[in-house]
Amino acid sequence: MRLPQPRQAQTFELHGLNGISDQTLETHFKLYEGYVQATNTLREQLFAIVQDENVKKGEMPIYSELTRRLGFEYNGVVLHEYYFGNLKREANKQPEPHGPFAQIAEQSFGSFDIWKTDFSSVGMMRGVGWAICYLDLAREVVSNHWINLHEDGHIAGFVPLLVMDVWEHAYLLDYKPSERSDYIDAFFSHVDWKAVEKRMDVGVPSL
Ligand SMILES: [Fe+2]
Repeated sequence: MRLPQPRQAQTFELHGLNGISDQTLETHFKLYEGYVQATNTLREQLFAIVQDENVKKGEMPIYSELTRRLGFEYNGVVLHEYYFGNLKREANKQPEPHGPFAQIAEQSFGSFDIWKTDFSSVGMMRGVGWAICYLDLAREVVSNHWINLHEDGHIAGFVPLLVMDVWEHAYLLDYKPSERSDYIDAFFSHVDWKAVEKRMDVGVPSL
């Protein structure tokens, strides 16, 4: 018996951005494909252990380590898909003034500009990880969070709306490590706000 359907890497029509070079994007796509591959391998290895319907005592250390690594690699896949998916070449610097994202940012932070200051500041935090703006569906507010590496800091059940990679590989070919704010400016000049707003259009999950 084989684990059904390994995950396929997506392709993204993303090039010609200002401030995030094609070379950076190509390198980044390859890195993303590596996460897809590693995730598929881990799932196969885990499946090989459980397919006899028994995790033997001697298998538990390797099973545990593979499962921990799955959280890292799998989030590495999904977060990159969100990230590439919320960028586009021809973009507006801000969402529609009275559109759903501008409204919820204002409800949650008082104004879009304060929301943006908070999100950018999360992105400026020292360390390797991600800045993510999440929608809390139950309360209809957004909040911004720092994710360590790929897997530490997510809020269960919240919906990722805007995802920004601040690992150094996301900008180091174009900027010095101390110039992360310039990368964040470039990121904001290419946010696909329509894609962000589409992510808001999800039903309340039944618990
Ligand atoms: Fe990345």
